[in-house]
Amino acid sequence: MSERSILIDGIGSLFDGDTEHHDAALVMQGETIAWTGPSSRAPDADERVDAGGRCVIPGFVDSHAHLVFAGDRTSEFNARMSGQSYTAGGIRTTVAATRAAGDAELATRAAALVAEMAAQGTTTVEIKSGYGLTVEDERRSLEIATSLTDETTFLGAHVVPADTDPDTYVRTVTGEMLRACAPYAKWVDVFCERGAFDEDQTREILQAGIKAGLLPRVHANQLTEGPGVRIAVELDAASADHCTHLSDADVDALASSGTVATLLPGAEFSTRSPYPDARRLIDAGVTVAIATDCNPGSSFTSSMPFCVALAVREMGMTPLEAVRAATRGGARALRRDDVGRLAPGARADVVLLDAPSYVHLAYRPGVPLVHTVWRGGERTAAPHPLVVGA
Ligand code: NIG
Ligand code: FE
Repeated sequence: MSERSILIDGIGSLFDGDTEHHDAALVMQGETIAWTGPSSRAPDADERVDAGGRCVIPGFVDSHAHLVFAGDRTSEFNARMSGQSYTAGGIRTTVAATRAAGDAELATRAAALVAEMAAQGTTTVEIKSGYGLTVEDERRSLEIATSLTDETTFLGAHVVPADTDPDTYVRTVTGEMLRACAPYAKWVDVFCERGAFDEDQTREILQAGIKAGLLPRVHANQLTEGPGVRIAVELDAASADHCTHLSDADVDALASSGTVATLLPGAEFSTRSPYPDARRLIDAGVTVAIATDCNPGSSFTSSMPFCVALAVREMGMTPLEAVRAATRGGARALRRDDVGRLAPGARADVVLLDAPSYVHLAYRPGVPLVHTVWRGGERTAAPHPLVVGA
């Protein structure tokens, strides 16, 4: 017997990850999309959902998030909004709280954030370690991440922990910590920045990760211009993330590479900093993704619709470019072809918006427009549980 099928018809606007189609329909069969086309030619299915002229988009692909942590940095945010500037040093506050937390607390909080994301239309999320910074705390962070997503990233090189010599720490990250973490990770990432890891350290850590079977991605050029983007391109990283401070050579290098520029406007919003120039990247031919960077310090939002709205308003993107970057772009930043698009064979990750067009994601900022979410053909649970105080 074939798997159960669901037809959504009466779709006023279907955005397939690349372009928009009007008066469309879509059929999910089991976990995958079986058919898309004009509503008038829609086949029968076991269940029918009438979209009533509303908009359907692929589930968002949030390709950059730090969800395994404990503690609270409200006062740091409050101080920033009262005039202080952001430094990477705040990461150590979260590291102390994360080390002190039990496994169950960390797992519950991370799961609550994934559920919060799902309720806002995110069906694929990448989750990094990076708030443990000991062999065991990084390992358990990744074990928790693995229970929530296939897209797990070893970020032992987030910052050098307090009271540790940088050379000794890099030796641990590339040795014992990598060996403990590699079985739970798909990706290796480094925060390449003044005050975090420099050019030589970044290259050494990424190459060690690659040797252990992990794929590279890089926190690059977030706070200052630097070597991050150059190293990402050189190592054929799937993505260079942040890309806020870029030289012309960085833009050219990205344009002629297979490395996606992942822009994280929640970080600029929450640190009150200048936004990256998406227009400059897109006009140069760079593939762009948008992600939340959800973390307790620089960007405590789980909302891809919010990031889409910021990208349109603050980064020079059209609504079409922004929603494309949040779906197909995110998939490319994870080197995935089965998500971020609505076409036969893709995973049935489908979002029905209570709006006639994806443009409303930017036109109606802050409004909960996500009506129904299917992930792998299953309606995901909503409403989401509480995060703070978990
Ligand atoms: O992506 N850039 C480094 N990591 C995070 C910040 C994490 C924090 O402040 O806790 C980021 O913005
Ligand atoms: Fe980050």
